[in-house]
Amino acid sequence: MAITIQPIEASDQEWVRGFLWQQAGNTRMVSRGRLHQCDELPGFIGSLDGQRAGLVTVRLDGRNCEIVTLHTAVHGQGLGSALLVAAADYARQHGCQRAWLITTNDNEPAIRFYTNRGWRLTAVHKNALAQSRLLKPEIPLLGLDGVPIEDELEFELRLEEGD
Ligand SMILES: CC(C)(COP(=O)(O)OP(=O)(O)OC[C@H]1O[C@@H](n2cnc3c(N)ncnc32)[C@H](O)[C@@H]1OP(=O)(O)O)[C@@H](O)C(=O)NCCC(=O)NCCS
Repeated sequence: MAITIQPIEASDQEWVRGFLWQQAGNTRMVSRGRLHQCDELPGFIGSLDGQRAGLVTVRLDGRNCEIVTLHTAVHGQGLGSALLVAAADYARQHGCQRAWLITTNDNEPAIRFYTNRGWRLTAVHKNALAQSRLLKPEIPLLGLDGVPIEDELEFELRLEEGD
């Protein structure tokens, strides 16, 4: 399948909103005690054979870039990897030294996915979800495989020259 990656345009916003609802059940996400309105963030849309099937959203913060969301509707075709590369390229182009992201302790596939792509686990924010639920009470108590969602796992990719 042919993968194409395009920056989100203003005309994509309705699709972005619908995709986030479909994939994540919400357009709002919390990380490190901050609530993000993800359909207003910059990012990239990934398509498979011309059909939009994936989305990454990002947030610049000085010389750091947070990957706020990453979802694909079709797994195992390389789309998530391509979107992650596009996000890291975006961060580099904006002078960032580091890209980072949060996933939760229940999300083993994501932990494997990031680790296999050179991202490093740099922090475990124990019990961070208690704080997150104050901002977004609809976060479920149980996640993948019924595992309690309690901790934020922080991954990073260093973006030094030549990486
Ligand atoms: C995590 C996620 C974004 C990965 O997206 P994806 O499109 O499946 O990613 P890829 O296809 O690039 O890679 C996934 C796996 O398929 C494999 N793969 C890649 N291309 C492939 C292909 N053409 N054929 C078969 N397998 C392939 C990869 O090796 C990878 O396996 P690995 O991680 O064990 O090495 C996706 O699974 C997802 O949306 N998950 C739910 C949301 C989520 O958890 N997001 C992250 C939270 S922070």
